[in-house]
Amino acid sequence: MTMFRHDIIIVGAGLAGLRAALAASGNDVAVISRVHPLRSHSVAAQGGINAALGKTDRWEDHAFDTIKGSDYLADQDAVAFLCQDAPGCIIEMERWGTLFSRTDDGMIAQRPFGGAGFPRTAYAEDRTGHALLHTLYEQALRNDIKFYEEWLVTRLVVNNGKCSGVVGYNIADGQIEGFHAKSVIFATGGYGRIYKRSTNSIINTGFGCAVAYRSGAALEDMEFVQFHPTTLYDTNILITEGARGEGGILKNKNGERFMERYSPHLLDLAPRDIVARAIQTEINEGRGFEGGYVQLDLTHLGAKKINERLPGIRQIAMDFADVDPIEEPIPVQPGQHYSMGGIASNKNCETTIPGFFVCGECSCISVHGANRLGGNSLLETIVFGKLAGENALKHANSSNFDKPDALERSMREETRRVSSLLNKKDGEMFFKIRDELKTIMDENVGIFRNEEKLTAALENIRYLQLRYKNVYVRNKGAVFNQELVNTIELDGMLDIAEAICISALVRKESRGSHYRLDFRERDDKNWLKHTLVICTPEGPKINHKPVNIKMFEPKPREY
Ligand code: FUM
Repeated sequence: MTMFRHDIIIVGAGLAGLRAALAASGNDVAVISRVHPLRSHSVAAQGGINAALGKTDRWEDHAFDTIKGSDYLADQDAVAFLCQDAPGCIIEMERWGTLFSRTDDGMIAQRPFGGAGFPRTAYAEDRTGHALLHTLYEQALRNDIKFYEEWLVTRLVVNNGKCSGVVGYNIADGQIEGFHAKSVIFATGGYGRIYKRSTNSIINTGFGCAVAYRSGAALEDMEFVQFHPTTLYDTNILITEGARGEGGILKNKNGERFMERYSPHLLDLAPRDIVARAIQTEINEGRGFEGGYVQLDLTHLGAKKINERLPGIRQIAMDFADVDPIEEPIPVQPGQHYSMGGIASNKNCETTIPGFFVCGECSCISVHGANRLGGNSLLETIVFGKLAGENALKHANSSNFDKPDALERSMREETRRVSSLLNKKDGEMFFKIRDELKTIMDENVGIFRNEEKLTAALENIRYLQLRYKNVYVRNKGAVFNQELVNTIELDGMLDIAEAICISALVRKESRGSHYRLDFRERDDKNWLKHTLVICTPEGPKINHKPVNIKMFEPKPREY
């Protein structure tokens, strides 16, 4: 067993992790990533990144849209920071090399997005994540950031209440090694893959959240799962909200522009929770197409606009649905897209464990509350990635390395855990349990929820947790043993699913993406508060914390 040592360890090399690394560069910082950094899920982001760049736009308006979009659950002090910092961050990315699309007079182009009162979403065609991630990776190489690629971090080491490093499984050679650190940042992404219908890349298992949870960090607002309204029918590849921003229209099988009934003012550009519920209602009530989808019509935009602004979407529709959006509408259905919840953190990216910081989708800071606006997630990665890096650096500069004993103990324990999985001669293979989990989540913990479905889901997840004890890995090899990696991750996926169900059962109201058919109204009197789930030896325990209401008093949401 080897023990590596760095002042600051960042786990995750998507936008948040890379931005954190740059903020701490010049110091002893290293990034551990499950995949090559350019394969991180950030690369798949399409539609854009929000900032009040326009002369007549203001950060306060951006903040208001974000808070209203969040159904008033976002922490407003954190939202204020996000929106104030946004323009500077975009300009910095642009100066570092991001090729944003331009207006005719050479300004950074911005398109309308859901729930926004202004065309505030800057974009690079429909491949914005790709453009931003390449920029940050180039900057990371330029700054000699050290990378450990293709490692799975399996343990966050906490000793005497303080973070002292992580344990990682080297996927390339099957070794368990330790990383001794003064500060650790998790930027490990979301958990979309606990659902079957998801836009997320297959690495998004939520394992980072599960690792942190098991080490004592609370999970916050896990009941708020975002379903993107428009994913390609059947494959669930993202069809960007930018397509509606450019003028695309949703239609049911009767050719009706049904959003007129659900959001008379914003129509197809209402916030995502509203559009996703509207589409699902059309499908459930028989106005969708056979198989369960509606159509996104771009044909009236014309070939020039589609080719200039939405070339990726056109290619995806042609390759995966055999539909050319210049000629025909795209078949779409809602699919899991984003996790508003995550590892609980304050607005400085600090968790309750000193030395342990979080940013990006794995974190709940919470700037998105009960529903995130499109374009705010890329922004969050950059703004809070930078802040996490700065604060982790400050912490490292004022701390000493802990004694390595706890880390060594954890390395031995993790080695035993992996060996015992590999030594088992028979049992159940991971994919059966994983596939059942995904079906349970799709069917019972989706857009519309109720007590009965959530209770059934929780019971079934607990049964899967029991079955997991008997899980067996057929491939005994050390080199790139993906079956072993998937099996280890499944343990965490079950924990995350359990936390989502418990939180969703507890919250007896409808707010943002959490819609309870048995409690259809928002209930500020009882539920204007965050949900926390804490891992204890007796099982998960629920707690709550207040919402920061600094700028805008909660009002009914009308669009
Ligand atoms: O629709 C989209 O392009 C997604 C954007 C986002 O999730 O922020």
